[in-house]
Amino acid sequence: MERYIIEGGRPLEGSVRIQGSKNTVLPVMAAALLQRGTVCLRRCPKIADVRCMVEILKSVGAGIRWRGDCLLMDCRHVHTGEIPGAYADKMRSSIFFLGSLLPRCGRIAVSYPGGCTIGKRPVDLHLAVLKAMGARIWEDSRGFCALADQLHGCRYRFPKISVGATENAVMAAATARGESFFSNCAREPEIVHLCRFLKLAGADIRGEGTTEIRVRGVRKLHPAEFTVPADRIVAGTYLFIGAAVRGKISLEDAPAGELEAVLDVYQKMGGQYEVKSGTLVTDSSRIGTPVPYVETAAYPGFPTDLQSPLAAVCATLAGKSRIREKIFEDRFRAAVEMQKMGAAIRRDGNVLEISGGRLRGAGVCAWDLRGGAALVAAGLAAEGRTEILHPEYIDRGYEQLEKNITLLGGKISRICGSINA
Ligand code: EPZ
Repeated sequence: MERYIIEGGRPLEGSVRIQGSKNTVLPVMAAALLQRGTVCLRRCPKIADVRCMVEILKSVGAGIRWRGDCLLMDCRHVHTGEIPGAYADKMRSSIFFLGSLLPRCGRIAVSYPGGCTIGKRPVDLHLAVLKAMGARIWEDSRGFCALADQLHGCRYRFPKISVGATENAVMAAATARGESFFSNCAREPEIVHLCRFLKLAGADIRGEGTTEIRVRGVRKLHPAEFTVPADRIVAGTYLFIGAAVRGKISLEDAPAGELEAVLDVYQKMGGQYEVKSGTLVTDSSRIGTPVPYVETAAYPGFPTDLQSPLAAVCATLAGKSRIREKIFEDRFRAAVEMQKMGAAIRRDGNVLEISGGRLRGAGVCAWDLRGGAALVAAGLAAEGRTEILHPEYIDRGYEQLEKNITLLGGKISRICGSINA
């Protein structure tokens, strides 16, 4: 079984270039199917979720080619809306084909999306907004099938904020007949980036980044070239890796403007930073103040995806920190693993109470993408050796993690098979 081996307790210092955003590129890859030419995505991250999305695109007839870090998607010959279950149930983003392949092919059949073990992750909001636009949808225990000769505009208010459902709605409305008005939309930067791509391809969208989005359907979209923006969650992960080891790390291309809530917490812990010509220069040498209380929230609040990496930093801070997870039901598994490293962590419903201090290396298990990255941070901070099982979860969203950590002075390797502890 594959695992990371980390020798912790070493200082990290140096520079990391932040990769393209996973949660931007995944919906954009699906949205490319709305046009019948070739889309070019520059700075596309080479991560497992992108590779999985590529396989799904190829299975429906798209031609895929890499040119350096540019992903070329030839969507002229897309011929089916059948998404193979082998890929679809591997990750959440298969749901995005509802908003793009259904308008394109008039029919889609997809199994319920897989993804991380962080909660139930229903898709009812996705299905509801597509039904409001005229889609007929049948569900069974495995997945759903949707039919639509021509989607039409609608007025729809989301009963709860959902990033993915907002993205699916905008994609489906882009070539629907008439106007759509969506309210109570998510405001995440990834939605703004998706709309920027769709507008480059000819869509007529207003209000992205606010809770009210208006889309005027156009007859068709055309090919576009798009540069994937830097990944704010990966940048925040390296920020917290640096904080856990009290290092000095420069994050090139980090979207500091999308990390205000995160940088606010970082500063309150004693972190110092400045933005210098597009690089977020950080100094964690004075980190030491525990976090009295933080709760995750939809953007611009503190992102749920950085809750586990923050918990890893709190596990190194003497004193009591409290983190409330308000987005997902079960996103504390990494914190439970950190208990094996000496952190005193108590879960009270959706609140984690962490009494941190000196961590010691241990054998731990990654259960999801961001929790796995948090365990890397904890392992780098701990004295001694940490083994992390299931690094494949981390591969889903982090490009060249071992290489970057090694360049920063960390000791991390990846092995297959079992070793003596
Ligand atoms: C996106 O997931 C991200 N994934 C997640 O990142 C991120 O944690 C999440 O947004 C919140 O910011 C991608 O963009 C690929 P939601 P998404 O719909 O769209 C509930 C990572 O690590 N809900 O905003 O699936 C849901 O259960 C991943 O990169 C419904 O009830 O999240 C959750 O409690 C993890 N019905 C809440 O809404 C629905 O139909 C927010 O989920 C949809 C969602």
